[in-house]
Amino acid sequence: MKIGIFDSGLGGLIILKEIIKKLPQYDYIYLGDNARTPYGNRSREVIYNFTEQAVDFLFKQDCQLVIIACNTASAEALPKIQQNWLPQHFADRRVLGVIRPVVEEAVKVAKKKIGVIGTKGTVNSKAYEIEIGKINNKLEVLQQACPLLVPLVEEGWQKTDVAKRILRVYLQPLKLAKVDTLILGCTHYPILFKEIQGIMSSRTKVLHSGEIVADSLADYLTRHPEIETKLDKNENVMLRISKHDADDVTLREPQGDNIKFQVTDLSPHYQKLGEEWFGSGIKFEKIELK
Ligand code: DGL
Repeated sequence: MKIGIFDSGLGGLIILKEIIKKLPQYDYIYLGDNARTPYGNRSREVIYNFTEQAVDFLFKQDCQLVIIACNTASAEALPKIQQNWLPQHFADRRVLGVIRPVVEEAVKVAKKKIGVIGTKGTVNSKAYEIEIGKINNKLEVLQQACPLLVPLVEEGWQKTDVAKRILRVYLQPLKLAKVDTLILGCTHYPILFKEIQGIMSSRTKVLHSGEIVADSLADYLTRHPEIETKLDKNENVMLRISKHDADDVTLREPQGDNIKFQVTDLSPHYQKLGEEWFGSGIKFEKIELK
């Protein structure tokens, strides 16, 4: 059986890349609902329906475990999926999100104040604030919705002055409040990691959610042999990843059969984003969710 990775679009490829670097031996299906992205400004009901369709689609393709890489879907849909839908439909499978692992790491490193940036959906849900409060209610949490960042990154504008000016406006309140830890609560924001760290004080620890999610998945599989033993394993890992520096990782060879990429829309623009964010060998298959 396989591991499914779901995102509202292609930003989750950044999380998948970190997961594959850490756990290259498993089979993966990536599913990006890019025909309906962004989810960030949609209602909770719609986000739930879309997420349920995606998780169901992945389970029907033999996924034992699905990671919801999308923060908005993790915030707005995951609790209901885990509590109500999963026990009724696929009781022996598991669905995990990205918020809990990132919160656990943030609580370990934070001193007093944690900043969270994300889509409107994620920020309005208060999911990060609630999860942080469950572990340590003495930590102060300041949130900031940054709805312009996803379109900026999707247009490849991350290095422009416009992007820097917009980032400064969004980050100013968190910087003034002297947050000591900053959560990038959206799949796309690690692409702006250097720019964000450059604007925040050097004393602010900016957390990279991809690495944290990958470490947490490895730890989960060690603690849950009943899930891990059901996963197919490849002796000869087909992916070769060459690491040039911290944020420039290129997939040197087209992926083998151990990883599939499915999207709900395909165009030259999405192909280009996939190559930039994952690697030059990426081949998408177009599917329909309903
Ligand atoms: N994947 C979404 C997230 O992490 C960002 C894009 C969207 O709004 O759909 O919140």
